[in-house]
Amino acid sequence: MILRGKVLHRGEIIEAGIEFEERILRISKELNGKAIRGIILPAAIDVHVHFRDFKEKHKETIESGSLSALHGGVCLAIDQPNTSPPITTPETYFERVKRAEKKSYIEYALNLGLTEENSARICEILSKIQKRYFVPAIGETFLCNSMRVSYPTLERVKKVHRITVHAEDPELVRCNDIPNFRCRPPEAEVRAVKKCIETGVFHFCHVSTPESIKSIATSSSTSEVTPHHLLLSTEDAERLGSFVNVNPPLREKSFANTMLENISLADVIASDHAPHTPEEKKDGKSGFPGVETLYPLMMNLVRKGVVEIKTVVERLSEKPAAIFDLKGYGGIEVGNYASLAVFDFSRVEKIKAAELHSKAGWTPYEGFEAVFPTSVFIRGVQVLSNKEVLVEPGFGRVLRSVDKSSGD
Ligand code: DOR
Ligand code: ZN
Ligand code: ZN
Repeated sequence: MILRGKVLHRGEIIEAGIEFEERILRISKELNGKAIRGIILPAAIDVHVHFRDFKEKHKETIESGSLSALHGGVCLAIDQPNTSPPITTPETYFERVKRAEKKSYIEYALNLGLTEENSARICEILSKIQKRYFVPAIGETFLCNSMRVSYPTLERVKKVHRITVHAEDPELVRCNDIPNFRCRPPEAEVRAVKKCIETGVFHFCHVSTPESIKSIATSSSTSEVTPHHLLLSTEDAERLGSFVNVNPPLREKSFANTMLENISLADVIASDHAPHTPEEKKDGKSGFPGVETLYPLMMNLVRKGVVEIKTVVERLSEKPAAIFDLKGYGGIEVGNYASLAVFDFSRVEKIKAAELHSKAGWTPYEGFEAVFPTSVFIRGVQVLSNKEVLVEPGFGRVLRSVDKSSGD
């Protein structure tokens, strides 16, 4: 297949044709093909989602979460292991990826969970899994919740594999009331990030303070930011009511604004898609659904001239691929998989929970403007056309460890 139109290639928008099968074969200004309205970008890699399933099917399943991702232009999601039961053994890992192979609409990879309990055997557990599957990281490792891990354990395990950390220091987190920003201060994050950086190199999940972004940027570690910490703040507390809680919590408006101004210091933009039902939110549960709105909200910021397209796409595609060693993923390059998303900036929509595909059934961005993809391709196959899904559950594959060694 050959598409022709505006293409973001190596940071520049060019008018060109892209010829592809499963992978991109040729990119050339001389190549003619199907005319595309809008701009052709790499589909996103969302390195941080919680697709729930198992005993929490009422919140989300791999099927519903990956369908939501597909509608948002995400071609590959990295799922987190704090499921019920958690992914802390080869058995639970294999059970989950088997389900993903049957149910996922998009490409899927799974992080391994770390607890104090499994930390002594983590090498053995990981190597058993890696014989078959590509494990992006041990993550998101919690310093502060029921799957809590101590700093010394984190320091020991960092030699085993890449670790992604939820950095909030337990000594400074006092509660999970509504709103939780009153009892989870910015210092909890700043201190945890500082302590981790002193002990090694980590990928920091969903950083919520300008200070953390800046200190990570001057270290060898990498940082991830979410749309909710860029676009929402404590000023949304009234509007969000019992939906306000997320960890780390929303910060003051000045923090969000400074985060957005400094977005080029962050390495990755990810959703931390963490669905809970409206009933559960009333009990103070933390987390926002967001995999479907990740790329569309960022594209709307591009449309308004708030951020550059190159800055966004690097953080949704090239840098996630480089940091997590995802061979064949990243920018629109010959040899990479043809996983593409087309956006037309003249098609601005208002986000409505009723039109999204997560089982959560709500969104913190109700009424926000967004630009959703008009077409999505995964590995050369068109999977979405004007909101119509063209593939079945199970289309997406689970990344295997051979991907890493052979580049295949
Ligand atoms: O708000 C959050 N929700 N933060 C986390 O770190 C976990 C997540 C969840 O799994 O619900
Ligand atoms: Zn987290
Ligand atoms: Zn998370």
